Amino acid sequence: MAVQWPLPPEHPIVTKPPLRLGVMASGSGSNFEALVQACRSGQLSAEVSLLIVNKPEAGALRRAEVLDVPAQVLDHRNYPSREALDRALVTSFRAAQVDLVVMAGWMRIVTQELIEAYPERLINIHPSLLPSFRGAKAIRQALEAGVTLTGCTAHLVELEVDTGPILVQAALPVLDGDSEASLSERIHQQEHRILPLAVSLAAQRLGLCAQG
Ligand code: GAR
Repeated sequence: MAVQWPLPPEHPIVTKPPLRLGVMASGSGSNFEALVQACRSGQLSAEVSLLIVNKPEAGALRRAEVLDVPAQVLDHRNYPSREALDRALVTSFRAAQVDLVVMAGWMRIVTQELIEAYPERLINIHPSLLPSFRGAKAIRQALEAGVTLTGCTAHLVELEVDTGPILVQAALPVLDGDSEASLSERIHQQEHRILPLAVSLAAQRLGLCAQG
């Protein structure tokens, strides 16, 4: 299911009881915060029940403190394999009884341990118009390729990195003189818009909510 640009008008999505979201982050956590704000503003009938970061220094952890969202550190260096880390993620998210899990800047490759625990319920946000520029350096690759149009994609997660059914995309132009930082900033603005919408769409696909 792909939703084309322009995005449809924003409307509240009502679920009873509110959807419980788990979020995974490795970085600054601006997408995590955008999700929390979408929940608290009523745009999304959901709550972020648990944030998990894989690095104690992740900015997302500081944001969780400020926003008063429960958070855990599962440091990937403490696990012998990717599968072991993912099993720990699943244990934590199950304990928190989350309905959907969002990878909001999670910079680790995930395995079937996580994907199979949350079938059609695991969402990733990626800073390119997939299937172009998969991987960890998407914005730099887009600049190096000289594309004039780029964007971001929210999609359901499959085993191959940055693949899976597309939920929402937003496109934006690459401007003359754009740096990785300037382009990243504009992409982030779009990510913050589409990620709550992608959560709504994933929930609707699963029949977890009705449009209000
Ligand atoms: C976002 O741009 C997200 O698309 C990207 O990490 C950034 C996290 O920003 N994810 C990937 O590149 C995954 N392949 P944030 O920490 O400010 O939310």
